Amino acid sequence: MATVLAIETSCDETAVAIVKNRQVCSSVVNSQILVHSQYGGVVPEVASRQHLEIINQAIALALEQAEMNWLDLDGIAATCAPGLVGALMVGITAAKTLALIHQKPFLGVHHLEGHIYANYLSEPSLQPPFLCLLVSGGHTSSIYVKDCGVYETLGETRDDAAGEAFDKVARLLQLGYPGGPIIDKLAQTGNAQAFSLPEGNISRSQGGYHPYDSSFSGLKTAVLRLVRQLEQNGAVPVADVAASFQETVARSLTKRAIACARDYGLETIAVGGGVAANSSLRKHLQVAAASHNLRVLFPPLKLCTDNAAMIGCAAADHLNRGHTSPLTLGVQSRLSL
Ligand code: KG4
Ligand code: ZN
Repeated sequence: MATVLAIETSCDETAVAIVKNRQVCSSVVNSQILVHSQYGGVVPEVASRQHLEIINQAIALALEQAEMNWLDLDGIAATCAPGLVGALMVGITAAKTLALIHQKPFLGVHHLEGHIYANYLSEPSLQPPFLCLLVSGGHTSSIYVKDCGVYETLGETRDDAAGEAFDKVARLLQLGYPGGPIIDKLAQTGNAQAFSLPEGNISRSQGGYHPYDSSFSGLKTAVLRLVRQLEQNGAVPVADVAASFQETVARSLTKRAIACARDYGLETIAVGGGVAANSSLRKHLQVAAASHNLRVLFPPLKLCTDNAAMIGCAAADHLNRGHTSPLTLGVQSRLSL
């Protein structure tokens, strides 16, 4: 029954949480969105500085909210990869220092493993094997979860990640940052059938064809062309464009996830990452899963986007199995699961 203090600083959220196995004791998430939105996206150097300014306060708050002190903890964890190097360094350095001072085991956690574990927090009875559809700002992956720490990536994106596509399309529609939630909200007022857009299927002629891989850069270009064309004809029906784009992404992700689960005989699809918050994806996947007798799990919104509770949950599972990381562990901007 490990109790872990976990730190997540891989991108633009300074998050600290205390987790007891699959139970969240406290979770502090400080978003930097307001700071970065003036630049239209995350500025790495600014992100690191922001993490540095707030990390100690966030740690103190997580302990206070959980009504715990250092003696109650069995380990200290931090995201070590992938992510922005400077941002990751802040979190991992804080975690290693605290582990050293308080004589606790230290654990470095892969960010994507954290997104998978968000599902254990919302559904503590969940057990492998299952398929995790991981859709975030940096990843679009179909992951076969076989056991704690045993993963097989069945499909990935060839270019833009799903969240990245939302952010880029929002930028070209001049809607602001981050694009996902803005497009999601605007799409509620638009007609999702207004425009037919390409789903981004990978053709067999593209080297290393894989049926579960996706590609969103063609879709993004198609939206750009559509907008240019509509501009020439007059005002752009932005809500209809947003709804049609969102519908296309949701359909494409749903198709691949269902195919993966069926082909590998997996009965549960657990979704993770920021794009798991998307209302159209939730709707499409729920309908398709029901018609194929599959179970689909979506963590609550606050566990879909970046948070430290998911990192703590992964760390607790590893710690229970006797896994720890050396204090010499570094950070990596890219690292596969
Ligand atoms: O998992 P996350 O918080 O950070 C990464 O690890 O990347 O995901 C952030 C991404 C952003 O691209 C954001 O636009 C997208 O998730 N996102 C959404 C929604 N909420 C966040 N995309 C579509 N619909 C949403 N409701
Ligand atoms: Zn993430």
